[in-house]
Amino acid sequence: MKPIQVGLLGIGTVGSGTFNVLERNQDEIRRRAGRGIEIAMVADLDTARAKSVVGDKAKVVGDAREIIANPDIDVVVELIGGYGIAKALVLEAIAAGKHVVTANKALLAVHGTEIFKAAAEKGVIVAFEAAVAGGIPIIKALREGLTANEIQWVAGIINGTTNFILSEMRDKGLDFDVVLKEAQRLGYAEADPTFDIEGVDAAHKATLISAIAFGIPVQFDKAYVEGITKLSAADIRYAEQLGYRIKLLGITKRADKGIELRVHPSLVPAKRLIANVEGAMNAVVVYGDAVGATLYYGKGAGSEPTASAVIADLVDIARLHDADPAHRVPPLAFQSHTLGAAGKDLPVLPMGEVVTSYYVRIRVSDEAGVLAKITGLLAEAGISIDAVLQREADEVGGEGSTQTDLIILTHDTREGNMDAVLAQIQGLPTVLAPITRIRKEELN
Ligand code: HSE
Repeated sequence: MKPIQVGLLGIGTVGSGTFNVLERNQDEIRRRAGRGIEIAMVADLDTARAKSVVGDKAKVVGDAREIIANPDIDVVVELIGGYGIAKALVLEAIAAGKHVVTANKALLAVHGTEIFKAAAEKGVIVAFEAAVAGGIPIIKALREGLTANEIQWVAGIINGTTNFILSEMRDKGLDFDVVLKEAQRLGYAEADPTFDIEGVDAAHKATLISAIAFGIPVQFDKAYVEGITKLSAADIRYAEQLGYRIKLLGITKRADKGIELRVHPSLVPAKRLIANVEGAMNAVVVYGDAVGATLYYGKGAGSEPTASAVIADLVDIARLHDADPAHRVPPLAFQSHTLGAAGKDLPVLPMGEVVTSYYVRIRVSDEAGVLAKITGLLAEAGISIDAVLQREADEVGGEGSTQTDLIILTHDTREGNMDAVLAQIQGLPTVLAPITRIRKEELN
């Protein structure tokens, strides 16, 4: 059978990895796919760099639209990133009847509904394994391997940059700003790290996971997003003393009235495997009602790990190319014309409705009755305390200090309830600084 013809849009880190792995493993890949997969054209603004990667094995062009206009190209691989030109090119490729493979989480999390609809109308595939957790086949696991399950929740370390920073903060006892500068110097963090450190990249990925896990539309605008910029070395240390690690988690969970979709720093019991995922690695735990907890671990970024996912999608397309569109694996796992059991999509819940437990650190005057007053307010709100830690004033504020930190772990409560009681506690004259609140996930 004729090899499937691929056009690459962008040949940076992931594009070169894709080209090199396809070259290196072409025999195995052909035997798996049932036909060859050939990168016939590459478009990149830097044509010299593109030529240095592909030599004379593919035609290099400066204009991506030359690839889209070529009737011999079956699949367009979009590795440009972002919402701008990438969106226009993906929609044009679909309109031209090409299948699309993309690693672009931002594009799909924000414009996925429009893109998947256009693809369904044209009968083409949009595949995006590389968009979530790089080389970990989490999309395939959720969409196919776990298809028997009612998924209960998914929690993942899905941003390597922030996991690297948190690991360094814990190992070396350093504050966020210091570690970020070091991470940038070593090339682990981008010069503009905003999307990573503010949780946006993880939220893009969590949005896609949520849609696939629960059969709801992609809704990045409903995701709660909080990054790691406000975390202090002190909170990481206190959490450790209580038996927890702090991780930036992307969480999506089935609740009574809807779906939780949130990214924020979370305390995780140190004994959980996911709490021990260090450095730039990624890991995702999926809890299904039949299978229980399953864990997926690996490299979430990088040239060949991400290429591994891109090529897996190309193999799927090579295998499914000729299948009737109605019998292909649906991009978001559920057939688009089907809704949940109640005949409607579950809503994404506002944060006030989310139920979780908390770590709270309160800087107080070290005097009689302060702890009693605070625990009294929590009790009045029906919030049960799991553990309390109080440091020596000298240890917190230096010798002779009259201030100390109270650290309280709570049991589950509704976030709206917690917000209200924290506002009351913040107003007490004996509370001396803004309260730190970090959510806690037992993941059991
Ligand atoms: N910047 C991401 C990370 C990889 O640090 O994990 C691409 O999404």
